[in-house]
Amino acid sequence: MTKMTVRRKDEHPAFRFSSENMEKVNAHIAKYPEGRQASAVLPLLDLGQRQNGGWVSQGLIEEIARLLSMPAIRVHEVAAFYTMFNLKLVGKHHIQLCGTTPCWLRGAEDLKKACMKRLNIDEGSVSADGKFSLVEVECLGACVNAPVVQINDDFFEDLTPESFVQIIDALANGKEIKGGSQIGRQCSAPLSCNTADATDNESAVKATKMPRKRKVKDAE
Ligand code: FES
Repeated sequence: MTKMTVRRKDEHPAFRFSSENMEKVNAHIAKYPEGRQASAVLPLLDLGQRQNGGWVSQGLIEEIARLLSMPAIRVHEVAAFYTMFNLKLVGKHHIQLCGTTPCWLRGAEDLKKACMKRLNIDEGSVSADGKFSLVEVECLGACVNAPVVQINDDFFEDLTPESFVQIIDALANGKEIKGGSQIGRQCSAPLSCNTADATDNESAVKATKMPRKRKVKDAE
């Protein structure tokens, strides 16, 4: 027997863009020719998610569908395809932990365990105070500095369980934290560049240059 679920109207509170964001919505829609407004679905989802506390609610989906004259299911399909859109409530600090091979080989599992223990949450859930949520994602595109974690819009790289927990502690206490490599690596340069005489970018670039090919004469 098929089970029917009746949803009350207030389970999906309506969403409206703020007047400031509505100007941005109109600017995005205006980029596309008449009849092709649906092409603005990605920037509208991003804008709406940011206004909506980090997630895409049914109300937001319906509002975007209305603005772009497209079926709500099509908006939902797009939101469900990209992991950058969260279809359920997330914490104020949404942690996306990369679990793909390079990060996994460099200790992503230990990071995950340390995070779950520190926050007392499981993967895919939100902490009791609503401040943090954790999900495992595929490659974040910063493998060279693995293991990597993204928190909201910032990347944290070259992590250890200890440095990761320190970052969570700092966020929990409202402190400023610095993104990027947590071991002072210069961008994605080899660690050998992190010497006292290679502290600026120019030195790091010089230090990472490939050795010149030996002249034929030298090689003889
Ligand atoms: S594998 Fe983790 S960033 Fe690519």
